[in-house]
Amino acid sequence: MNFLRTEIDILENEIIEQYPDILPILLRDHTTQKNIIWATNNYEEFGESYLANVEILPELITHDNGNIIMPRVHKDKILQQSRSKEMAEVFTPSWICNAQNNLIDNAWFGRNNVFNTELTLKNGSKSWEVNTEKIIFPDKKTWKDYIRDTRLEMACGEAPYITSRYDTTTGDFIPIENRIGILDRKLRIINENVDNTGDWLTAAQTAYKNTYAFEWQGDSLLLAREAMFTTFIENYTSKFGKEPLSKSLEYIAYIISWNVWQMDGLKGVIPNSCKSYEVGAQTDMFTTTESKKVNCEGCEKDIIHKHNGIKCLIKDWANKDLETGKSSRKIKFIDLLKNKGK
Ligand SMILES: C[S@@+](CC[C@H](N)C(=O)[O-])C[C@H]1O[C@@H](n2cnc3c(N)ncnc32)[C@H](O)[C@@H]1O
Repeated sequence: MNFLRTEIDILENEIIEQYPDILPILLRDHTTQKNIIWATNNYEEFGESYLANVEILPELITHDNGNIIMPRVHKDKILQQSRSKEMAEVFTPSWICNAQNNLIDNAWFGRNNVFNTELTLKNGSKSWEVNTEKIIFPDKKTWKDYIRDTRLEMACGEAPYITSRYDTTTGDFIPIENRIGILDRKLRIINENVDNTGDWLTAAQTAYKNTYAFEWQGDSLLLAREAMFTTFIENYTSKFGKEPLSKSLEYIAYIISWNVWQMDGLKGVIPNSCKSYEVGAQTDMFTTTESKKVNCEGCEKDIIHKHNGIKCLIKDWANKDLETGKSSRKIKFIDLLKNKGK
């Protein structure tokens, strides 16, 4: 298989054929130490292994020529509508992602139109024209500062703000040089500033470590992870005329599996992991209390720090873990949010 083809759906059976070790990494959940879960009932017609709270396993998505999980734009209209209703799933056109990413970069560079100029075409539709000049950095900032600047796409769906391999609303493929995502921009900067494979790989790993996203639904999350993985291969191959070695691919997939994680962003926990439980009847010398049902306090009172579900872990790659001495540390996402009492 050639990953540089221009079809937008990355077929899981092809990933398994060409890179047998990658799909299990892309399905990993580092919080639960298991795989990501479906977290949607859209696949339950296939049987018990496809129920919402069940893990996604490679063998569940590689039959039917790998066509089980497909991008929203290829899903049928009725399914698209029910996902919009149940999960607020509406994807943003690439020109809007571009305009918003431009706003962040305008602020970072202190000038406009750094990567491209936004356009309104004659038919009224919006687009952009790439600025093909090598990008110049402002005083006291370097290209390394840009790739180290940490960014996050919340509720990322198929992650159109991170990499724009295709327009998620039309399905149109976008060639590398026209891409507008957060990661696409970091990779462009690396391509412009580094010419040997070793330095390129180190810089690309830094770019990936500084690009985060989370999503509730397992299928979209996997598509987001696959898009970021494929973008890596496409950029490396276009720059050096050959594919990266498998150990480089595995490390990038490992970074992605940490940084693009499954979470209910309103609770900071694995989707649907908050529990109600029964406290049994108790008798002491004077009183007897009846058994009662205890609900999750966070869910009941809508307090983000009080959920009893599985709190999502993320990796802070830049800071040493004081307990283990490792060069990065795991943190609970929820601990990044202030106002712990509320
Ligand atoms: C409006 S779409 C946006 C997707 C993408 N960011 C884009 O702009 O195209 C909203 C996404 O949020 C996800 N979502 C809904 N509720 C969520 C929650 N509580 N936590 C995390 N993701 C959620 C849905 O599954 C869906 O993929």
